[in-house]
Amino acid sequence: MTDYSISPEGEKFPIPSQDEYAAEFKRIESLVSAARTEGREIVVVMGVGFVGAVMAAIIADTVDKKTGKPGKFVIGCQRPSPRSYWKIPLLNLGRSPVKAEDPEVDPMISRCVLEKKTLIATYNNDCLKLADCVVVDVQCDYTKQDLGNMRTGKAEMGALEATIKTIGERVPQKCLTLIETTVAPGTTEFVAWPIMKKAFAARGINSEPLLSHSFERVMPGRHYVSSIRDFWRVCSGCNEEARKRVEKFLREVLNTEKFPLTVMDRPIESETTKIVENSYRATTLAFLDEWSLFAEHNGVDLIKVIKAIKMRPTHNNMIFPGPGIGGYCLPKDGGLGYWAYKHILGFGDDIFKITTTAIDINDTRGLHVADLTRDALRNMGRQVAGASVLLCGASYRQDVGDTRYSGSEIVVRKLTEMGAEMRVHDPYVNHWYELETQDTYPAPGHSWSRFFRNQEELVNIRVQQDIAAAIKGVQAIILAVPHAPYLELDPDQIVNWASAPLAVIDCFGILDDEKIRRYFELGCEVKAMGRGHIQRIKEQVRKK
Ligand SMILES: NC(=O)c1ccc[n+]([C@@H]2O[C@H](COP(=O)([O-])OP(=O)(O)OC[C@H]3O[C@@H](n4cnc5c(N)ncnc54)[C@H](O)[C@@H]3O)[C@@H](O)[C@H]2O)c1
Repeated sequence: MTDYSISPEGEKFPIPSQDEYAAEFKRIESLVSAARTEGREIVVVMGVGFVGAVMAAIIADTVDKKTGKPGKFVIGCQRPSPRSYWKIPLLNLGRSPVKAEDPEVDPMISRCVLEKKTLIATYNNDCLKLADCVVVDVQCDYTKQDLGNMRTGKAEMGALEATIKTIGERVPQKCLTLIETTVAPGTTEFVAWPIMKKAFAARGINSEPLLSHSFERVMPGRHYVSSIRDFWRVCSGCNEEARKRVEKFLREVLNTEKFPLTVMDRPIESETTKIVENSYRATTLAFLDEWSLFAEHNGVDLIKVIKAIKMRPTHNNMIFPGPGIGGYCLPKDGGLGYWAYKHILGFGDDIFKITTTAIDINDTRGLHVADLTRDALRNMGRQVAGASVLLCGASYRQDVGDTRYSGSEIVVRKLTEMGAEMRVHDPYVNHWYELETQDTYPAPGHSWSRFFRNQEELVNIRVQQDIAAAIKGVQAIILAVPHAPYLELDPDQIVNWASAPLAVIDCFGILDDEKIRRYFELGCEVKAMGRGHIQRIKEQVRKK
């Protein structure tokens, strides 16, 4: 029986059978030998997900600084699993397997595949036998067992370990392997290098594998490509030769003239750089959670407080945390550090206080939005159970369509548990897979649905694009993400569309005082994260 892999757009691709592998390798071999006659270096990118697909295209798009001709031939390699195989045929058609807001992504992939012919994709790992350089972009997740207690979680090393073993069993002796995956500190030297050394020894190779590390700092959004190519990088190698090779490779493919490269002595240092960088961000966001509650209880508008503080140049990167801290990296990276200290580096003492608490605070901040919604409805003489509630903004950050670990998911799940009938609007999101396919996404048994009751119906949620239709008849609207269109929403229009006064919950300082006042004048109730001054506006309106 043929198995299929179905793309998010619903296209169905048959998964190749074992007897197709040999012909696929022949196809790659002949393309590689043609590329070699052009003097191109062969680069295999393992894992063509959010990062790997775009990194592969950036490498394929590079030209030799002297000749102006393409200097690299890139093979994106991906497991032929039902969940991921579709990315291979899609890439080979010149289409991006990742949906990105950056207008540079689609043309770059199509240019490299169809015109320059410097990019192909395959499911056959044997392509590694032909590589001069391998870039590893597979995931390394941190799975949490409990909501709000990341200490009981663990790093999911399986995909990375399997990939490294596959690489060690196949690559030529002098091939450079570059781990770009965000890993638990110590992984490159103490997990990956031993796996590769063992595989080399089994093949009778007695030189050290050339293994290096350089993490990604990619930011989803309109500048996806330049956040990889035109951005500062940090790298390191397991030995002197690997360090020199990785430096040379990154200088060839990235804009290191404008964005200087930092070369570190050891991989554990570059790995730790990434983890500390993201733990720092997660911590400064988490720290505002308690001040957000302080503000709500004491008539203070934290949005204005932050704005005032940001006038000081030394404090100008303070960010209001919204309904939680999502995205792929900030919720997990500190966990990788916490886990590595114990399970890779072998320490038994408990040194982590702040990083762990920060992640727990961020993971549960969204629950408070459900409190605010309940209280706002109560003040209007209504209750959550049975109320229609519209959540505006499913993604984790403004003006992007990335829903991974968004605070909004916690909001929807908690309110659903409390009996609300949830609707969702987001101009940037077509499908909210975390809900629609919660039984299998991000993996079976990993959905946040496991932390709440009453979640079954959420598979039927469809993200709406027409706000006027979505809002019709709702009793509450939650402004969860400051997407540009939400900043323009007019209170009169909202009440008109809803056809009655409603509860308005602002999670991100989206409403200015004028709009808050107008909502009260229209008979609405307004509540907001971190904005205690709303009570004052309400009293002023009521006094009139
Ligand atoms: N997405 C971001 O915004 C971002 C930002 C900075 C760093 N990173 C880091 O980059 C890394 C990759 O993240 P991503 O967002 O691309 O993840 P992803 O899940 O989108 O992609 C990983 C890909 O690797 C594939 N894969 C898994 N095992 C494989 C194997 N054995 N052989 C071949 N392919 C395999 C998966 O099927 C998937 O397509 C992570 O460590 C992440 O933390 C991501």
